[in-house]
Amino acid sequence: MWRTSSIYKYKNTFVFKVNLKIKPSLINNEKDEAKLLRMKSQDIRNTFLEFFKKKQHQIVPSAPMVLKNDPTLMFVNSGMAPFKEYFLGNSKPKSNRISDTQKCLRVSGKHNDLEEVGYDTYHHTLFEMLGNWSFGDYFKKEAIAWAWELLTEVYGIDKDILYVTVFEGSDDRDSLEMDTEAYDIWKQYIAEDRILKGNKKDNFWEMGEQGPCGPCSEIHVDIRSAEEKEIVDGKSLVNMDHPQVVEIWNLVFMQYNRKANGSLENLPNKHIDTGMGFERLCMVLQDVKSNYDTDVFTPIIREIETITNSDYGKHNETDIAIRVISDHVRAVAFSIADGQLPRIQAQVML
Ligand code: ALA
Repeated sequence: MWRTSSIYKYKNTFVFKVNLKIKPSLINNEKDEAKLLRMKSQDIRNTFLEFFKKKQHQIVPSAPMVLKNDPTLMFVNSGMAPFKEYFLGNSKPKSNRISDTQKCLRVSGKHNDLEEVGYDTYHHTLFEMLGNWSFGDYFKKEAIAWAWELLTEVYGIDKDILYVTVFEGSDDRDSLEMDTEAYDIWKQYIAEDRILKGNKKDNFWEMGEQGPCGPCSEIHVDIRSAEEKEIVDGKSLVNMDHPQVVEIWNLVFMQYNRKANGSLENLPNKHIDTGMGFERLCMVLQDVKSNYDTDVFTPIIREIETITNSDYGKHNETDIAIRVISDHVRAVAFSIADGQLPRIQAQVML
């Protein structure tokens, strides 16, 4: 394998570019070759944005991950965080349909994946969230139809490896009804035994202690082997932390605002907020079993192997360490690029 890398500045951003060329002699069989021909991460990202552009969405760049003016959040932790004011009705977006891929950092607060990173193969501190938004425009029907069309018709994911979840309702202080509307829409696309009901923890999305929120429908993939599927039904593994039965896309039906006193109020309008894990989608489409085996991570892992004179894939402990380094190095690089300079001082959140 040859590798050439270059660094250059593009519109005030430093771009680090790595080119990989695989020697033909390393291609052992047709299966290897097929893998090399699978979509590259860049094409996967572009396909997502192009799809929503055709559905009249304005494509916008990722906002910086570092937040300077939001006392409720230190880093952008989800694709919707930069659009919070639009959901609350405090300001108006340029377009009522937007799509992007947002850099997210989940290292503190309500959404914190720091402890999982490296020990499993599908959580990250920094990750990209592919999203499409409707600000008071389309709602559940279109969001579900388009998610299904993109996954099964454009990306060609076999519908027999997909499961979806809908909110079952809650009888706590919020006293929320089951999302039968989402259930009935999903029934048009997927067999009912693949529509699972989920509780508030998994199927009611909240940005933080306060802010916009609503019931959500998640799409999960089961990429285990046929033998494994024979033994254990995928349904029983959804939301059970199995590394190959994972959520890839969350469709949030924003309709409430959680107030500081803990109560819910209706938002002025209903909105759509979706978030698809880019690195997980790459894992599915590149036919590998770990996010770290996609072309998003392999160039970084090869570099770590060279610098540390170690091999990835031989010893579990070393593999965890390499995954942690490859994840954290990206997170630190992107945080610095977005304006968070490293310093020896704890930042305190109020
Ligand atoms: N805001 C939703 C999430 O982060 C899409 O999962």
